[in-house]
Amino acid sequence: MRQALFRKINHRPPLPFGIFPSMGRDHAGCWGKKKAKDKQIKQSLNKIPQQQTSRTVLPIEDGKPKGQRGSSIMTYQVDENGFYGQFGGAYIPEILYKTVEDLKKAYLPILESEAFKQEFHALLKDYVGRPSPLYYAKRMSEKYGCQLYLKREDLNHTGAHKINNALGQILLAKQMGKKRIIAETGAGQHGVATATACALMDMPCTVYQGALDVQRQHVNVERMKMLGATVVPVESGNKTLKDATNEAIRDWCCHPADTFYIIGSTVGPHPYPDMVARLQSVISEEIKWQLEEKIGRDYPDYLMACVGGGSNAAGTIYHYIDDERVKIILGEAGGLGIESGQTAASMQVGTVGILHGSRIKLMQTEDGQIIEPYSISAGLDYPGTGPIHCNLYETGRAQVLPANDDEALQAAFELTRMEGIIPALESAHALALLPKVKDLFTKDTVVVLTVSGRGDKDLDTYLKHQQ
Ligand SMILES: Cc1ncc(COP(=O)(O)O)c(C=O)c1O
Repeated sequence: MRQALFRKINHRPPLPFGIFPSMGRDHAGCWGKKKAKDKQIKQSLNKIPQQQTSRTVLPIEDGKPKGQRGSSIMTYQVDENGFYGQFGGAYIPEILYKTVEDLKKAYLPILESEAFKQEFHALLKDYVGRPSPLYYAKRMSEKYGCQLYLKREDLNHTGAHKINNALGQILLAKQMGKKRIIAETGAGQHGVATATACALMDMPCTVYQGALDVQRQHVNVERMKMLGATVVPVESGNKTLKDATNEAIRDWCCHPADTFYIIGSTVGPHPYPDMVARLQSVISEEIKWQLEEKIGRDYPDYLMACVGGGSNAAGTIYHYIDDERVKIILGEAGGLGIESGQTAASMQVGTVGILHGSRIKLMQTEDGQIIEPYSISAGLDYPGTGPIHCNLYETGRAQVLPANDDEALQAAFELTRMEGIIPALESAHALALLPKVKDLFTKDTVVVLTVSGRGDKDLDTYLKHQQ
């Protein structure tokens, strides 16, 4: 029976659900191959201008790939089974089967209904304050020899992109008749966004947060409490985002019927990655018309964003994902360096396995136990990355490069001093790539970089590392 259920969801053989540890180790580990990895990063940087996808690249017309690959048009979007290439799927326990299946059936009809669109867009406009500006960063453009535009998600209500997704999911939860909301949070931005949405919609809210993150993001904890949420500090593991997600999933397993789990990133079982990407796609939808207004063409040469679970990056690239004119560079958390063992750069050091319901690249030992991640940034301190980005990375559609703690801190201070914008530590990991990739740019190269959040929550860390 159980096998049949899994097959129905995945059309793939069943694998165990990796709530705590990773499961289903598919590849040999990379930890023993660090030198080779380092060389690979350097090589990949040199190759950015060329398209290095292992897929057949189809000719582009009007920014869209044309032609057929097998029987379907080439796309990096999700397939009908919830997969992005080899990544994704829904590896869930039987207790959640009905809940996830109900969501899978409901999300597209609801998201595409006129009533939902109207309510969601009204909230994005009048409550969140969208559109977020696309700001030409003059001094940074001069420094990095390009035309640098910053997509200012930091100016959204609650201070980050997370609110776009939280509002969308709570509308969906209400339509599905759910009575209670749970969420996980790392940096606290998704927790604050969810607590805000719950206050607005008058729904009870429980947020799980690693005990270490409760300390390092204490301002956001106070905000969540003030908004009426119950914050549960999680003491297991290394007390960060993975552990918070484990606890949220445990809660969900205990209350599958009445509880809606608002996942904060493009992670988790299908349909979450696709649903979150769609709700965040307002970012690239705006970039398109904002660029058209500013430079007379609706696409940049490069899109840049930081990537933890992947939601701000997914929103930034959504409308360009199949447009090969636009190159994608994403920054993940190098921590103390990918060779140090203190890192969260899962693309660089991870291997394929199952975590939190999805097949992704994740940091694990040879026998499939999670390697505890480390990053100065709570929002990037996760041992994996969502399936969308794993596929983009593995196919060569996106470059994912590590930025270490010190590089991110330096980048945060630089943006603050040069443009008067204090970014979130997470966003600083995208900014930190600018010195690494600037040789790819000419003065006319148009670069759009998403500043996913503001740095108020990180002031303690910034003060500690004052430059
Ligand atoms: C401001 C900010 N940016 C980025 C992230 C990383 O998440 P994601 O990769 O889903 O955008 C977080 C996570 O908490 C965040 O708070």
